[in-house]
Amino acid sequence: VWDAITKKKDYGRLDIGKGKKVVVEFSSPNVAKQFGIGHLRSTIIGNSISNILEFSGHKVIKINYLGDWGTQFGRLLAGYQKSGRENLLLKDPINYLQKIYVKANNKKYDESAREWFKRMEDGDRKALLLWKLFKGFTMEDFKKMYKLLRIKFDAYEGESNYNKKAKELLEELKKKQIAKKSKGAYIIDLEGQGLGTVVIEKSDGSTLYATRDLAAAIDRQKRYKFDKMIYEVGQEQKLYFKQLFKILGMMGKDWSKNLVHADHGLYLDKNGKKFSTRKGSMVFLKDILDETIALAKKEIKKRDSKVRKTEFEERALKTAIAAIFYGDLKNNRTNNIVFNPKKFVSFEGDTGPYILYSYARASSIIKKTSVKEKFQVYDLEDKELELVKKISQFPDVVLNAEQNLSPAIIANYSFSLAQSFNEFYHVCRVIGSEQETFRLALVQSFRQTLKNSMKLLGIEVLEKM
Ligand code: ARG
Repeated sequence: VWDAITKKKDYGRLDIGKGKKVVVEFSSPNVAKQFGIGHLRSTIIGNSISNILEFSGHKVIKINYLGDWGTQFGRLLAGYQKSGRENLLLKDPINYLQKIYVKANNKKYDESAREWFKRMEDGDRKALLLWKLFKGFTMEDFKKMYKLLRIKFDAYEGESNYNKKAKELLEELKKKQIAKKSKGAYIIDLEGQGLGTVVIEKSDGSTLYATRDLAAAIDRQKRYKFDKMIYEVGQEQKLYFKQLFKILGMMGKDWSKNLVHADHGLYLDKNGKKFSTRKGSMVFLKDILDETIALAKKEIKKRDSKVRKTEFEERALKTAIAAIFYGDLKNNRTNNIVFNPKKFVSFEGDTGPYILYSYARASSIIKKTSVKEKFQVYDLEDKELELVKKISQFPDVVLNAEQNLSPAIIANYSFSLAQSFNEFYHVCRVIGSEQETFRLALVQSFRQTLKNSMKLLGIEVLEKM
């Protein structure tokens, strides 16, 4: 138990990973579209899972598998060829591309969309030039967003990286007779395993999402020699990943048993309904972040009307991120959750800001004095003992979270840790009490443990709130 109080910084770091390599693929938004709320969950959860694995001693490789290839780009090119205007594109690239796409998402464009995608697959220069241009615009935007959210990747490896490799793979699948011809296309029949059929080559010879995913998995195994690979992707693709892993198994890749689909549920709107993805009415991360920052500003102003401008902005941003990340991560990832910025941003209850606030409270105590190396131990008050016990649970909590790939376990622990601290502080005076040296050490180790927990969730703490 005293470990919790004496070994401050690295307390709870585990070596169960033994340096094993784990690839975590997450976020993976689609290029030429705004970053929608649909990919936010994967971003938040995948990032936290990576942190937990790293903290428990694994070597983690974080991959962002961009959706930057496929028929939808054929559609975009077809739409742009038909009615695109360069000046409009340059003015507001992503929104403009989105508009073009919505327009081209129509039967009338099917034929030319297919042609344009075929041209991309065949390496046609004009098609690729446009595609690159569109991708460049989006990437700039995505990277800004990740920077704001403090999310980092080791590699961006999009679907487009696997165009050629997917073609080679197709040959192998045909030769091994795993793929069969059906109505001009090639399919893999998994009916026997209750997993339906998977189309892996279209009748015009172009590749599909699944073909590229198969090629990507094989390539990653070759390059990274991972012990495990985790795909943090929504529940809608549950069957899809089962099919993928099965096919790799049929190809004799025995490492396919080390592939995991860590799925997640949906975000629901305030009325408990699925966020609309109807044409043109997607919910964008940008808007949600702006809304949450505005709410956070109101809360901060209520408590501290004199805060300076730059600090105010910084605090609002961090509070908003904590609100959104925690609002998500406190739930089991497989559950659907109601996305409610107003609730998330509240400083009371089971929220990110409440936890940040508790941390800042501890910081302000520490700042008033200095923590001594040595402290006197005596009979503890109930609330002190509870807090000591809570802190000492941290390593078990991390272990449990690691085994279940469950950030929620860390999040729920953080909340109850903060609660314990607040209860302790309510009944025990720290500065000026006879037990000052011990209590300061306790506050300090609470502070460090909470900071570590939040870090595992991808949330930065604030010294002042
Ligand atoms: N870009 C895809 C989508 O938005 C998600 C990619 C998931 N990862 C994968 N390896 N298939 O649906």
